[in-house]
Amino acid sequence: MITLAIETSCDETAICIIETEGTTKYRILSNLVHSQIDLHRQYGGVFPIMAKREHARNIMPLIEEAFREASINLKQAEATQHTKVKIEDILKAKEPELLAALTASPLYKQIPTNIDRIAVTTGPGLEPALWVGVNLARALSVLWNIPVIGVNHMEGHIFGSLLSTSATATKPITTESPYDNIIEPDLPALALLISGGHTELVLVNAENTYTVIGRTKDDAIGEAFDKTARMLGLPYPGGPEISRLAVLGRERHSDGITLPRPMIHSRDLDFSFSGLKTAVLYLIRELTKNSSIELTDTQREAIACEFENAVTDVLIAKTTKAIETHSIRSLIVGGGVIANKHITKALTKLAEHYSIPLYTPPAGVSGDNALMIGITSVLSDKAKILDINDSLSHRANGNLSL
Ligand code: KG4
Ligand code: ZN
Repeated sequence: MITLAIETSCDETAICIIETEGTTKYRILSNLVHSQIDLHRQYGGVFPIMAKREHARNIMPLIEEAFREASINLKQAEATQHTKVKIEDILKAKEPELLAALTASPLYKQIPTNIDRIAVTTGPGLEPALWVGVNLARALSVLWNIPVIGVNHMEGHIFGSLLSTSATATKPITTESPYDNIIEPDLPALALLISGGHTELVLVNAENTYTVIGRTKDDAIGEAFDKTARMLGLPYPGGPEISRLAVLGRERHSDGITLPRPMIHSRDLDFSFSGLKTAVLYLIRELTKNSSIELTDTQREAIACEFENAVTDVLIAKTTKAIETHSIRSLIVGGGVIANKHITKALTKLAEHYSIPLYTPPAGVSGDNALMIGITSVLSDKAKILDINDSLSHRANGNLSL
């Protein structure tokens, strides 16, 4: 079965074409991500309306490129008047730029003969951005007469960590290439989802159902990295910048700076990062005497290092508590913050301590991508065929958070 997967929940336009056999084997025919980071960096964060416009501009060319890379067979087919009207109904009012891009694309007049279904992220995410993917999937579903499967982005991050190979390896992949395996973790598993929008501990129990057993009460962990970076005068996205400075701070063994570890001793499995961010703000005010002097490089590195240590201590404390409370047999970690080496090292040590396997996303799958969405559409009981006439608003507004 061949699936075209679409992901537009934030600032990455991502398209993937995968072929799957049953629910354990997959091969990637094309996996493309167009990042908008350079654009949003100028504004210090992601602007939803700008993200929407960029998705609408880039998504059709990306699908065309993916089709070429995956050698998708096409046949000439003029859309009927009825189909054209239906597509206009879906796109004209809400996505005029996307409608123009679709009708101008060669794929408007050609039908893929070997794509069986479309998978699309329906939330959680930035609503205007999500709608581009969802509405395009609905329009393509009408044009090509194939079903659309709605996928939860956070569940995508869980399955994205269960792939056995890098998403960028062994090119070119053809339909003759061998399949890779999807890892089946021992259950109950604990998924720690750490991204720009989420910080969640999810129990994946023996019935393969999910229970959120811990979540942030305010800022997500990636958001805390991004906001702290901004206070230190570092560009967006702040996570990689903070970790780069933290390495230097750690090498210097600079001490004398202490930040709080919010909720580290609370009895529950919830997190809170906004207090930590505020503590950084007060610390900077104190060190700069209310902006009358600049922070030194050494001070910046020391703050970055202590911030990273504080966040890691809290993550490890809560994950440890969850492993012990729920007799966890595998640890799955997903979301963009997994790119942080200090956090990964601490989680690796934790998993070794409890002799449980740690599953992290392979190269090319830690940030947002459509591969994880395609895989989830095949594996998840929750991934459902969408009624393309449905308004979908209840899905796209974030209620689908696991
Ligand atoms: O999952 P993701 O790509 O997008 C969503 O939020 O869904 O995660 C992006 C987040 C950003 O907040 C970014 O700063 C953070 O992941 N991030 C990192 C690192 N690389 C990316 N945070 C800490 N350390 C990193 N090395
Ligand atoms: Zn994400």
